[in-house]
Amino acid sequence: MSRPKVLLTRRWPEAVERRLAADYDLTLNHGDGPLSFETLSEALTQYDAICPAVVDSITADLVARDGIRTRILANYGVGVNHIDIEACRARGIAVTNTPDVLTEATAETALTLMLMIARRAGEGERQVRAGEWKGWGTTKLLGTILVGKTLGVVGFGRIGQAMARMAHRALGMPVLYSSRRPIAPEIEAETGARWRPLDDLLAEADVVTLHCPGGPETQNLINAERLRLMKPSAFLINTARGSVVDEAALEAALRTGVIAGAGLDVFVNEPDVPPGFLELENVVLFPHLGSATVETRDAMGHRAADNLDAFFAGKLPQDLL
Ligand code: DGY
Repeated sequence: MSRPKVLLTRRWPEAVERRLAADYDLTLNHGDGPLSFETLSEALTQYDAICPAVVDSITADLVARDGIRTRILANYGVGVNHIDIEACRARGIAVTNTPDVLTEATAETALTLMLMIARRAGEGERQVRAGEWKGWGTTKLLGTILVGKTLGVVGFGRIGQAMARMAHRALGMPVLYSSRRPIAPEIEAETGARWRPLDDLLAEADVVTLHCPGGPETQNLINAERLRLMKPSAFLINTARGSVVDEAALEAALRTGVIAGAGLDVFVNEPDVPPGFLELENVVLFPHLGSATVETRDAMGHRAADNLDAFFAGKLPQDLL
């Protein structure tokens, strides 16, 4: 029996590529650049499985074409707002993702952004590198202490909870959360988290960190009006999806002191960063580093491979959406 044809849309950790090559008729994207709409469209007619990532938009248009051969999209990543899951289901294409294995890494990224913006670390590092640091001073680069300040977590799934735990345990931050679904009381006890309606959370928190999914339901959730609910001393952290924040409204809020600062790992049109952000000192900008650790990227690859293996063995993949 011929082996299933599998396409990886980006380079994956070597060990995972080797594992997949042993079991499948595997095609790698040696250039590692994002694939065009045309290439992806063609691939859907040629491969039994495609393993996309956040940069690959799998739209309803794409899966509507005739002659589709692909039976599973094993996504490399937890967020799947770039895949039209309903359209895939309608065409009988299974979709899986890689939850759990990137929870701690993404929460660490949010924690890093929070510490950096509160302590003006990006600004300070830029001064040192530019040779502009003139020495220690009692009033220079004064930031904000985080210990004891209130953290507001928007979206209290795995990553939001991990961020809450880290901030609560390491920095003693009281935690508020807003989430559609109620959470188990033991998690509230463990993280000290208390539920608040979103607008109340925005008004009460010293740091607001976003951990909700992307997609139409959360598009521009943090808009000009909601930014005005936040304290002028507050920071906004986004490791979720760029689309959750109205970027123009955030830039205006940062320029005019509506909020004190922001730490952003994700943007609406990655890798384009709105040029206005580049001019501002009170925003820390990361190139979508959320899950970017050696251990995490390996684990994500193996999790996607497990999903493929289960699917082609006729079993239910553990991360079937
Ligand atoms: C995810 O897994 O959703 C990340 O944001 C993409 O790496």
